[in-house]
Amino acid sequence: MKNKSLVSINDFTKEECLRILDLAEKFEANPVQDILKGKVVATLFFEPSTRTRLSFESAVCKLGGKIIGFTDASSSSVSKGESLNDTIRTVANYSDVIVMRHPIEGSARYASEVSKVPVINAGDGANQHPTQTLLDLYSIKKTQGKLENLNICLVGDLKYGRTVHSLAMALSDFNPSFNFVSPKFLQMPKEYKMYLDNKGVKYDEHEEMKDNIKNADIVYVTRIQRERFSDPIEYERVKNAYILRKKHLEGTKPNMKVMHPLPRVNEIHPDVDDTTQAYYFTQALNGVYTRQAILAAILGLV
Ligand code: CP
Repeated sequence: MKNKSLVSINDFTKEECLRILDLAEKFEANPVQDILKGKVVATLFFEPSTRTRLSFESAVCKLGGKIIGFTDASSSSVSKGESLNDTIRTVANYSDVIVMRHPIEGSARYASEVSKVPVINAGDGANQHPTQTLLDLYSIKKTQGKLENLNICLVGDLKYGRTVHSLAMALSDFNPSFNFVSPKFLQMPKEYKMYLDNKGVKYDEHEEMKDNIKNADIVYVTRIQRERFSDPIEYERVKNAYILRKKHLEGTKPNMKVMHPLPRVNEIHPDVDDTTQAYYFTQALNGVYTRQAILAAILGLV
């Protein structure tokens, strides 16, 4: 994985993903080290973020590295019309690895092609969010004791939700059965369903949530993403399509966990937060250990 960019979850093999999970477990046991001493990590966020940016930065701080970057392109020379090519080539001169979030699909791949240092995709439009997927796999393995043969229910915006795209691809190596719950026009895109078809993965599509969480090992809820809608009326129509409440957890499997990449709006009611099934805040914490593992592997330090 040394010097490899991570743009799509498919850039890492199944074995490499499992190696990241093993490393993350070691960082969880021993999160404060100085292996990044002398290394500079650039975090370029052209779109808002709380968890991804701050967990990367926390990971770097705990490992003794330094961070440069921006949280808003308007404070960079992009606001003067600088191209992504010029921005990346410049920042690559100042850093050992670039972590980038950008609203345009394909921007991270482009950045990786013009950068002399590895690029880690922290989310490109509705396309991919591979580091979220690795922390999701880590969270699933931690809570279920395995990744194989699980029943995974993905709920919400499956069309624009980049986290579910990367996650469905990654889990396809572990013989899952999927239930996809979404409004009709926010269904999982064809390209991902074809990917699953080619790998012989079973999935069913539904509009109704309540009955379809009963057999799930993991219920992975996503936000309906207002910022991806071109028509605000369409957003208004579906924004509260699913609201998971404590009462819906009755009769679910004892090992079931509720995950969410966060941020949430209304799709998980706060009355779920104190249940044993709620896992989303621990999931976000797991992002620190997983991102420590990703940085250490890509920088060739482990
Ligand atoms: N899960 C996630 O990507 O959250 P942020 O948008 O806060 O980074």
